[in-house]
Amino acid sequence: MMLFGGDYNPEQWIDDKNVLDEDIRRFHEMGINTVSVNIFSWSFLEPEEGRYDFSFLSSLLDRLYEEGISVNLATPSGARPKWLSDKYPEVLRVREDRTKMIFGERHNHCYTSPVYREKVRLIDEALSKEFGHHKAVIAWHISNEYGGECHCPLCQEAFHRWLEGRYDSISDLNRKWNNAFWSHIYDSFDSIDSPSSIGESKNPALSLEWKRFVTHQTVDFMNEEIKAVRKYSDLPVTTNMMYDYLGLDYQAFSDSLDFISWDNYPAWGTGFDGDDVLVAADNAMEHDYYRAMKDKPFILMESCPEATNWQPLSHLKRHGVMEAASLEAVAHGSDGVLFFQMRHGRGGYEKFHGALLDSSGCETRTIREARTLGNKLTALKDVIGTVNKPVAGIIRDTESRWAMEGSAGPRNKGLHYRDNLRRVYLGLRSSGLDADVIGPEHDFSAYRILVVPMLYMFRAGLAERLESFTADGGILVVTHWSGVVDEYDSIYPGKTPYGLSEVLGLRRAEIDALQDGAENVTIPVAGNGLGLRKNYTCSVLSEIPEVYSAEPILLYGNDFYKGLPVVTEHDYKKGRSYYIASMMEEDFYHDLFSSLIEKNGIEPIAKALPRGVFASERIGNGKRYIFLQNFSGNDVLLSSSLLNGKRIIGDGDILKPYDTFVFER
Ligand code: GLA
Ligand code: ZN
Repeated sequence: MMLFGGDYNPEQWIDDKNVLDEDIRRFHEMGINTVSVNIFSWSFLEPEEGRYDFSFLSSLLDRLYEEGISVNLATPSGARPKWLSDKYPEVLRVREDRTKMIFGERHNHCYTSPVYREKVRLIDEALSKEFGHHKAVIAWHISNEYGGECHCPLCQEAFHRWLEGRYDSISDLNRKWNNAFWSHIYDSFDSIDSPSSIGESKNPALSLEWKRFVTHQTVDFMNEEIKAVRKYSDLPVTTNMMYDYLGLDYQAFSDSLDFISWDNYPAWGTGFDGDDVLVAADNAMEHDYYRAMKDKPFILMESCPEATNWQPLSHLKRHGVMEAASLEAVAHGSDGVLFFQMRHGRGGYEKFHGALLDSSGCETRTIREARTLGNKLTALKDVIGTVNKPVAGIIRDTESRWAMEGSAGPRNKGLHYRDNLRRVYLGLRSSGLDADVIGPEHDFSAYRILVVPMLYMFRAGLAERLESFTADGGILVVTHWSGVVDEYDSIYPGKTPYGLSEVLGLRRAEIDALQDGAENVTIPVAGNGLGLRKNYTCSVLSEIPEVYSAEPILLYGNDFYKGLPVVTEHDYKKGRSYYIASMMEEDFYHDLFSSLIEKNGIEPIAKALPRGVFASERIGNGKRYIFLQNFSGNDVLLSSSLLNGKRIIGDGDILKPYDTFVFER
């Protein structure tokens, strides 16, 4: 079954037995089949140190099982009881400014603290022993949205030992970090302080290594939790990740997890100046990142059926938006649609957060829309287990972004990384292709087109792999501000993008930062190889490449670099490469990829899609499932070629705003 349900926290109304009955009645009405429980229940499970009371959870799981509702069972480490930090203050975090925190909120434990690790291990094992074979439970939901960092003495010590394991000696570290600058030579690993606003915040290599350590330590903490639940249970494990979260490199979590899940809260109707085409694309790009982590279906673990309470505006979802957002996740590889949350809280910080059920007890618009969605998810059951297999990949690397955004220059007012990435992505999607958004370590062999947008850091070995991808016949597209530094944020000597000047037929020379709102214009070279004829705008950052053997496609139209190439093409062995030296407008990427598809005989999923209509394809079990979705805000008449195949969802040939058609081919 497609999982359908969400986070359920009934310990909030533990004294009112009628609520559970009422909720279950509504769950059946909406076709709910799965809930995630126990996420924030620790103080109920262990009211005093060492005294476990699982009676409420046990009766809840029994009841859910009787009702045919499955459970993602959470480990409760995301929020701890008060007694724990009162008795063991070491579990509290220390902030980067070295202030020690006091009890409050959630997601705030020291992930190094042996006491916290031990308390979590004990309760996780106890839960696993008690419920690891419970018939209602289908998966482990490990903790909740891991994140943040701790600078306590325990974490400092762990950081030192971790660094020690990574370098031959302290002088090796000093050299790799370029510590001769400002006379910042360290004489031992123990003398290194984590980055701080009251100390060292301007050593890029230190900042980068600290972030890597935070990821390492969080994964290590998670692995201990996984080990604990595995003691008595072999159910699949996941942890819920967040949108574009830069506190951790999520790629490092993937190997420990059986399936990927994430929490998705797009600002429909208000984000990107209310342009839902951009919201939809931005969101899809994130789904594609999570799917590509394992090249397998993932689970949309949280989403909001109504309005959130933490975004600038609690903007209600217009008719059809909840369904469109949910089916967008499925179109991109989710085998389920789960919400935060099943029922409104009565009090507390999230009492105004949207939910499937409210406290009125009445039939609501949300319930009606959820019922329809539930029926559609049932109709999509054969899609389960299939996956998107795009011919295009886009590299997105959190480590590179840490380094790029942590550096001073070339544009401290904003590099517009995600905006640039989204333009690339939209160009591929509007040309009718699906895309994988991949880490630099991902295998490239399945792709015809590989895009490297603003990949400032090339980790060891990457340039060689990009070279062979192109040499073997791939189409490589590299944009500005790529291949500049190594893993320690030191500039590569010689020509850059590092290792690619032969492949690209040029080198990066200068880079110009433009004012906010300022634009340059590009002029097509007559008879250029891509057949581009329009003038496009470019902005934010403009590189001036020194071109050797590459063919200019577009030239800058203004400024002192007027007439110099901004887009080039270069044949390299069996493949071809393109260099895009500035942040180009959205239309350019549409025209670029449409031309590449045409020239290289690549078969798109759909042709001639109007802006805001997206096509995706899930493949498997000898079938292909085509999803067409309309985020344009207008009715769209679809041509007969698009309507081909056995219809699973939708009627007629007009795709209305926020509607989805699904075909089996
Ligand atoms: C996150 C958390 C949930 C809840 C929602 C609210 O995703 O995991 O517990 O706070 O946000 O949107
Ligand atoms: Zn700590």
